[in-house]
Amino acid sequence: MQRQVQCRRMSSGRWRREALIRLLWATGYLTITFGTLLSTLLFPDLLQTLRSKTPSIALNDVTIVLSKENMGQTRGLSWKQEQLPHRLLGSSAVTLESEEEEEDSLLEKLWTPPADRSFVPCVKPEPTYSGPGPSQGYLMVSSNGGLNQMRAGICDMVAIARLINATLVIPELDQASFWQDSSNFSDVFDVDYFVKALSNDVTVVRKLPTSMKSEPKVMKAFRSWSNVKYYEEEISRLWQNYKVIKAAKSDSRLANNHLPSEIQKLRCRVHYDALRFAPHIEALGKVLVARMRSAGPYIALHLRYEKDMLAFTGCTYGLSSEEAEELTVIRENTPHWRIKKINATEQRRKGFCPLTPTEVGVFLKSLGYPESTRVYIAAGEIYGGHERMASFLSRFPHVMSKVLISSGL
Ligand SMILES: *[C@@H]1O[C@H](CO)[C@@H](O)[C@H](O)[C@H]1NC(C)=O
Ligand SMILES: *[C@@H]1O[C@H](CO)[C@@H](O)[C@H](O)[C@H]1NC(C)=O
Ligand SMILES: *[C@@H]1O[C@H](CO)[C@@H](O)[C@H](O)[C@H]1NC(C)=O
Repeated sequence: MQRQVQCRRMSSGRWRREALIRLLWATGYLTITFGTLLSTLLFPDLLQTLRSKTPSIALNDVTIVLSKENMGQTRGLSWKQEQLPHRLLGSSAVTLESEEEEEDSLLEKLWTPPADRSFVPCVKPEPTYSGPGPSQGYLMVSSNGGLNQMRAGICDMVAIARLINATLVIPELDQASFWQDSSNFSDVFDVDYFVKALSNDVTVVRKLPTSMKSEPKVMKAFRSWSNVKYYEEEISRLWQNYKVIKAAKSDSRLANNHLPSEIQKLRCRVHYDALRFAPHIEALGKVLVARMRSAGPYIALHLRYEKDMLAFTGCTYGLSSEEAEELTVIRENTPHWRIKKINATEQRRKGFCPLTPTEVGVFLKSLGYPESTRVYIAAGEIYGGHERMASFLSRFPHVMSKVLISSGL
């Protein structure tokens, strides 16, 4: 009995202790639950922070949520207050985060590639497409203009060689253009690949065979924007008297309309496949891109605000009268620029002028790109230099050039 009582007492003591522990646990749970609820009600931003998966760092009392853009800059851990984008320099971390979230989704949209609208590459020839026809003679080409213009011209010239059944001699590059570039085709492009890639389209040789040196030749400036008929009839007729046709320039542009689809496909294959850069250029290009990408996405900006473009177009908006005069003199002294008298105001009004660096800065800013965006200037020297870039740099200070990145930053 005693034992039983003791047992009961003991058990009732144990029960009391267990109840106490349960009570303590329950209080604990309730405190945590209510505490969390209350704190998220009172401090709703806490929830946002908890939900936010982006890591954040505290720096000089400013919380910075690391986005794709500024992630790269923190890697160097050399941020100073004055280097921080202004909008990050407020006192409230909470507002910054919601602004950042909004900005993040905007940025995500900006950096997302546009929809492909189900377009697929279709440059392969049809099964009925056959190799080049029997050669009627040789087509030599004097490419003219800058690199892009020469590229486009070479694509047309390959198509023309196919149309007139010519054997194409590797084109000469323009060494007298504004850029004074002495490179020849093999310095810039992979010649072996060019020949191989086009073997089913056009026969390509590196040099005019010596046997052709004494054959009758004709120099011809093809009529601009001509269609297939012009080449198949008018130009092909030249084979009756000549073995070599030399195109005086390459920018005569083959018509874009009513081009047989096989010829259009061929132009694309030249542009996107056959005209591959020489290995050392390809390698340098890859290094530059990798260095730019190492800090996240970037904008490559072909800021065509260069001396030759402004002189050629006569666009002097916002320039000093000395600068305008300099450009006019360049235009007047460049024989192959036919239009000499240009009214800069009208030119700009018609929309024929490149945007100024300031205008490009305003444009990119209004698209939503933040100040931290890195911009690669894919262009030569900007006319007016640093001074003309000042306003752009105030909006986008992280500007890179090929000289800067190729020297390893
Ligand atoms: C080119 O060769 C093809 C194949 O032999 C032929 O059908 C075509 O008429 C030729 N074109 C010209 C312009 O000579
Ligand atoms: C192209 O230039 C290289 C060196 O710059 C030279 O070795 C080569 O012979 C040139 N080719 C032609 C076709 O002029
Ligand atoms: C240029 O065109 C503008 C607008 O048409 C005109 O007001 C101006 O007088 C012209 N300037 C010259 C030098 O002809």
